Formats: sequence, structure tokens, C-alpha cells
Amino acid sequence: MGQIDWMQRPPSPIQEIEMPVLVAKKIRLLVKRDDLLHPQVSGNKWRKLKYNFLEAQSLGFQKVVTYGGAFSNHLAAVAAAGKYLGFDTFGIIRGEAHYPLNPTLQFAASCGMQFYFIPRATYRTIDRLAFAQQTFPFPFYFLPEGGTNALALQGCEEIISEVAIQLTPQLPDYYCLSVGTGGTMAGVVKGLRNKAKVIGFAALKGDFLHREVQTLLGEAAFGNWEIALDYHFGGYAKFQAELIEFINSMQRNYQLPLDPVYTGKTLFGILDYVKKDYFIPESTILMIHTGGLQGIAGFNQRFGNIID
Ligand SMILES: Cc1ncc(COP(=O)(O)O)c(C=O)c1O
Repeated sequence: MGQIDWMQRPPSPIQEIEMPVLVAKKIRLLVKRDDLLHPQVSGNKWRKLKYNFLEAQSLGFQKVVTYGGAFSNHLAAVAAAGKYLGFDTFGIIRGEAHYPLNPTLQFAASCGMQFYFIPRATYRTIDRLAFAQQTFPFPFYFLPEGGTNALALQGCEEIISEVAIQLTPQLPDYYCLSVGTGGTMAGVVKGLRNKAKVIGFAALKGDFLHREVQTLLGEAAFGNWEIALDYHFGGYAKFQAELIEFINSMQRNYQLPLDPVYTGKTLFGILDYVKKDYFIPESTILMIHTGGLQGIAGFNQRFGNIID
């Protein structure tokens, strides 16, 4: 299981969520289950890595270097993709090494990824590419943290063409998704060309993400998007009991697995917007499930098996 063929893959399924509040507000909620795209390269990682690995292959690279935090979904996905596609992978990790390694890094190591740990303060200040070039004296394909670059946006744009094939003639009025670096959102906004509204739910605290997405979009005049800033639950990877209860109830009642860092917060925010009558009645929302489920094992290990 788990081989990778970027070009031959059925579309990820679309799941309808039927909840009393949605019926009452006359809203149709669909979830594009990109978490099911691949067992280990799932969610937005599949979308973001596709054209990057194809590029690395066509340029003849055999090694890939990237960055990430110790629980990073991106690192886990790069390690798995590297294993299946025959690349040596190297992860420059934010923070000191802790042994035994957490489940994310154990998984990445089992895929053959080699780690280089650097202190958080250094991580924040270095020029990432230059540091990687100094550290690794061999040719490599470079992937930034979170995998966000122009080729990642191209992969994320494909979500829109895929949804069009699946849902025409009843296309969504709103697309909702989680925002970390902004790459996935920028790709979705580009792919939509103003044909529907995009709402990003910030996984990080602060109002800088609007600028990040705008920068990624460049000069393109796409106006139909915004970022909801109030659903980070205290900040990146922070949580409250209400969020965990919500995540467990979605799994229990709707068979929808969510992660506590990105997708759980996003769906919580979407439903809060529904309750607050943000969406026009009779409209359809499509939430893009960006994956991240590999992070649950490490989360449960740290906080005591609170996610079912
Ligand atoms: C599961 C998951 N969802 C959403 C995001 C946010 O994507 P982006 O960084 O492209 O904004 C990330 C990573 O950052 C992620 O791992």
C-alpha cells in the first residue's frame, strides 16, 4: 500500500454532513476528503508536493531538503513521498532533539529521513536556503517549510478543477479551509478565479496571514477571499476542551476524523459562522479537509489520549 502515482488517482470523495443546525439554517455542508488521497501523503501535502516532486525528478535530483517543526505534517509527508519515489530526504528541525522521538519524527525516520536539529532562536533568524546549502554539501531539491512555493499553489489549484468535475452543475458557493502558511488558500483562490468565495480559518494567532496570502497571489486581483482570525483557540497547536469534544463528536456522529491543529478548528469555525448567519441561506459550503491526521498520535501522547 501507499505507492505514489501523482497522475493516476481517483478524486478524493466528497462527504455531506447533515446536522440539525445546517438544516435549520438551510445550508448544505460538504467536505472534500483530501485526507483520503493517500495513507501517508494526504491532504494538502499531496497537492503541494505533487509538482515539486515531479520537478525534482525531472531536474534529476536524488535528494530533497526541507524544514519543519517536530510534529510537522509536511515533514512526515516529504519523508513518505521520498521513500516511495526513491529520494533521500533531509529534515532541518526546529528545536532540540528529544528521545525517544515523537511519533511524527519516528515515522519520518522509518521512511529514511535524516534530521538536523537546530535551536528555535537560530531557526527563526537564518536564511533557510543558504543554511541548507552550508549544511549539506551535495545537490538537493529544496522545499520550504510547509512546502509552500509556486509549484505547491499549482497543485492546490487542481482541487478546484476536481470539484468542478465532481459537483457540476451544483458548484459550491463557499470554499473553506485551514490556513498555516497560506499556500493552500492562495492556490484555491487562484483556481477559483473569483467564481466563489473562499474563507480561510487561521491556525495561527495574529493578522499577518492576509498579507502572506496576498503576497503569494502576487498582483492577481482576486478579491473574493477573507481570513477568519478567531478560531485558533489560543494560538498555533493550542487547544481547549471544547475543541477536543467537538473533534470527538464529529468522529462519533458523522465518521469525520479531524485533527486538533488545523481541520478541527476550521470546521468548528465554519459551524460557528453558520450559527451566526454568515452564509446566505440555500448556499453550499465546501470544506477542504487538508489532512493532518498523522499528528493525532503525537498530540495524544503529549496530552493523554484525549482524541478518540
Ligand atoms: C493539515 C494541514 N492543514 C492545513 C495546513 C495549512 O496549509 P498552508 O500552510 O498551505 O496554509 C497545513 C500546513 O501548514 C496542514 O498541515
